[in-house]
Amino acid sequence: MATHARELTTAVRTAGLHRSFGDRDVLDGIDLEIARGEFVALIGRSGSGKSTLLRAVAGLDDSVAGSGEVWVPERVSLVFQDSRLLPWLRVLDNVVLGQPGAAARERGRQVLAEVGLAGRERAWPHELSGGEQQRAALARSLVSEPQLLLADEPFGALDALTRIRMHGLLRTLLRVHRPAVLLVTHDVDEALLLADRVLVIDDGRFSLDLRIDLADRNPADRDFVRYRELLLASLGVDIDTASIHDIQEIS
Ligand SMILES: Nc1ncnc2c1ncn2[C@@H]1O[C@H](COP(=O)(O)OP(=O)(O)OP(=O)(O)O)[C@@H](O)[C@H]1O
Ligand SMILES: [Mg+2]
Repeated sequence: MATHARELTTAVRTAGLHRSFGDRDVLDGIDLEIARGEFVALIGRSGSGKSTLLRAVAGLDDSVAGSGEVWVPERVSLVFQDSRLLPWLRVLDNVVLGQPGAAARERGRQVLAEVGLAGRERAWPHELSGGEQQRAALARSLVSEPQLLLADEPFGALDALTRIRMHGLLRTLLRVHRPAVLLVTHDVDEALLLADRVLVIDDGRFSLDLRIDLADRNPADRDFVRYRELLLASLGVDIDTASIHDIQEIS
């Protein structure tokens, strides 16, 4: 049956999603479909509704006025800008929180090793650097083998070098765990380095839905630069309009 086939290939579906604060419509009829294993980056100006959309998909917005449908898979994980590790639990206990049993602890150890934190299982969160805390948060988000990972600027508070390392790490982790990803970011290059598709949200609606077809994810690459220019233009940053024309042809 078509519906069944769709559910096997779809990780997220929203239909006619509206959310408002007071008389302000922050999400204005969002239809979104993300395929299983697909990596979608969501960019947009500050206040454009990115976190509101992520929270709606995560089902974290019960108190917000709105309508529409959201369908997500059974196992969904979240990562935020701050690690949200519980300060009174050691790193491994944070990672396996809510998952009792020796098998879960073993799996927690394994995922901590994958994020480069082998040997730090018994550390307290405050003993980790900001980057290490985010790596622990990533480990926590992946230990349950999510089918969907929702991330709201997870690298936003990290310095540039740590951020670049985190991009490499995330790519490696995704090759192993293969969840679909919806990543909110301010950083156009981050979106282009990681995503299969970039959505631009503006005034509660998608103004661009762009599939990223890059053989080489190199920021100096000509096609990368064109995508960057197109995305910056869609965010209202002035650029050479001739380049926009070019990229529209290749996308
Ligand atoms: N709980 C709330 N009460 C009232 N208004 C809210 C609330 N949460 C968000 N808003 C408003 O909704 C709009 C969208 O907010 P949202 O947090 O989704 O933006 P964003 O795109 O994530 O921005 P940023 O890039 O700055 O994180 C903003 O104008 C914000 O002020
Ligand atoms: Mg936000």
